[in-house]
Amino acid sequence: MEDMILQLSYLIGSVTFIIGLKMLSHPDTARKGNAIAAGGMTLAILATIFLYRDESGVPLHNYMWIFGALIIGTVVGTMVSKKVQMTAMPEMVSMFNGMGGACAMLISIVEYRHLMENINTHTPDTGTMTVVVLGMLIGTVSFAGSMIAWGKLNGSIKDRTIPGGQVINFILFAGLITLVIMVVGGFFPEMPALFYGILALAAIYGILFVMPIGGADMPVVISLLNSFTGVAAAFGGFLYDNPVMLTGGILVGSAGTILTILMCKAMNRSLKNVLIGSFGGATAGGGGGAGGEQGSYKEISLNDTAVLMAYAQKVMIIPGYGLAVAQAQHTCHELEKILNEKGVEVQYGIHPVAGRMPGHMNVLLAEADVPYEKLLEMEDANDQMAGTNVVLILGANDVVNPAAKEDPSSPIYGMPILEVEKADHVIVNKRSMKPGYAGIENDLFFRPKTSMLFGDAKKMLQALATELKQL
Ligand code: TAP
Repeated sequence: MEDMILQLSYLIGSVTFIIGLKMLSHPDTARKGNAIAAGGMTLAILATIFLYRDESGVPLHNYMWIFGALIIGTVVGTMVSKKVQMTAMPEMVSMFNGMGGACAMLISIVEYRHLMENINTHTPDTGTMTVVVLGMLIGTVSFAGSMIAWGKLNGSIKDRTIPGGQVINFILFAGLITLVIMVVGGFFPEMPALFYGILALAAIYGILFVMPIGGADMPVVISLLNSFTGVAAAFGGFLYDNPVMLTGGILVGSAGTILTILMCKAMNRSLKNVLIGSFGGATAGGGGGAGGEQGSYKEISLNDTAVLMAYAQKVMIIPGYGLAVAQAQHTCHELEKILNEKGVEVQYGIHPVAGRMPGHMNVLLAEADVPYEKLLEMEDANDQMAGTNVVLILGANDVVNPAAKEDPSSPIYGMPILEVEKADHVIVNKRSMKPGYAGIENDLFFRPKTSMLFGDAKKMLQALATELKQL
């Protein structure tokens, strides 16, 4: 009977994960989806603690340790999540992901020790050994890599190209494969040093693999490491014959992989290019002034911008990384409300990789209480562009760069963009003519329809709101 209830709670847990994941795909339902999946996880954990019996019918007994760890984890997790700034979210995801990898690593170490203790009476089968070793290897790479990603995102670790890094990684990889074959094949069963050798090499590999990748590419790497953790957890599910752990691991593994592919696609870059390429590095920091190679750009005053917007019927705001840096989301929402009061329809055009993490702009604008229905996905925004009078670009650059459509030699060629030029007027707010993340010039700034409004996004929006109120 107890086993039936346990299996039923695992089934409920697995179903809630799937429902939760589905609900996470829309901002309206995301919070509820998260809560449902967390509820399923809680049920599965409690059922395991109280109803699990091993082959000899013995229940779990070390409750002090289990509840001690649960309480510490819950308190720390809650406090950190409540305190974290929206911009520090990728950092936190990376840390939590690393902890998942560390769990998979520790599970494998504990189980390996059990196998070794009983080796004289019971030779471990290849299947069990494979699961233990691969769970440890992938979990360790994910743990070590996530810690480096976390350090990079909070600024404590600088981007560093390691001389001969790729060769070293290749040698490490070959070494790992050799050791895995030796341990799993049972060639030297009495040599635990080989197993711990895999642990050490995997940790070094995780560090070296993430170290040279640019800070801004970290969301892609974190998503990839996330999928590794999922796979490592799924190995744990195999090991303990635990269906909920297996389902959870597979879902995390596949969701992480899909997200990695989607991000690469939205940037029109291959994963290989993200992992070993230095995107835009050669030209970063460039950017010409008025009258440079690209021709000349024209500036617009705050007053003219305010007049243009106040007398428009439809305004589309395009938020980008600069809006996040300036923390201008609340001011932006204020401006939107003022325009609404004047009878102007305001919408937001959201590019899938605007900012530096998936859903960055949606989360930022949701934080400022911008209604979800005003946020248009790129395709919908592009459909509406022709009937739009004014496009206001706030700290976005690459995601509106026409080179992505027009210049086959451009590193961003093929990346889908927001086609702002279909609107009547384009106003670009940024602080200078410097390029964005891809490090390339943006011809949009020099085109006849475009006017530049230089300044920090928050300050300019505050000033714009004041101007608009006076009109
Ligand atoms: P970017 O192309 O990086 O452009 C941001 C612009 O904001 C810069 O040109 C900068 O110009 C301006 N800016 C910075 N601080 C500002 C401030 N305080 N006020 C006003 N403007 C400010 O951003 P984007 O258009 O959002 O494109 C995102 C890029 O990141 C893409 O290339 C994408 O591939 C990449 N990326 C995205 C992700 C995800 S998942 N979102 C992940 C990895 C990489 P000034 O310095 O002149 O002000």
